[in-house]
Amino acid sequence: MPNKQDISNRADIATIVSAFYQKAMQDPAIGPFFTEIAAIDLEEHLPVMYDFWENLLFQTGGYRGGMMYKHIMLDRQQHLTKEHFARWLELFEAEVDTHFTGPMAEDMKKRARSIIPSMQLKMRPTMLPLTERR
Ligand code: HEM
Repeated sequence: MPNKQDISNRADIATIVSAFYQKAMQDPAIGPFFTEIAAIDLEEHLPVMYDFWENLLFQTGGYRGGMMYKHIMLDRQQHLTKEHFARWLELFEAEVDTHFTGPMAEDMKKRARSIIPSMQLKMRPTMLPLTERR
């Protein structure tokens, strides 16, 4: 793709996130979380995802929160493994790189990568080294 630019607004976020969902929902490994387990309504879900990313990248304050709770509940229905997260990240980063390049694109990938360990920790708090008994 010639002349790739950096992410600069909500429309750019929508380009990445909607394309990501097209792929993720058809993916044999993680697709069923979206299509069966949570059975999301894409028309409702996508604007929430745009709010989430717009708030992270441009501090719009538009996302109401509750992301961690939703994934904890998802994980209780069907365990979200490290392989699932690796696949999610692979698809997500590929989508960012397909459409954009620059500091914001790097920031978006970095934020996605860094949210994963905290999500995993919230799902399995007993794995925290601090909770180790002496
Ligand atoms: C294996 C990895 C993942 C899977 C399978 C997955 C799947 C899902 C599903 C099915 C929902 C809809 C839940 C519902 O509405 O009940 C959801 C919501 C969401 N996910 Fe993920 N997710 C994953 C990782 C991530 C990561 C790493 C992030 C952030 C970087 C993220 C951000 C979000 C957000 C912001 C929502 C919207 C929550 C809300 O409705 O407020 N997800 N995810």
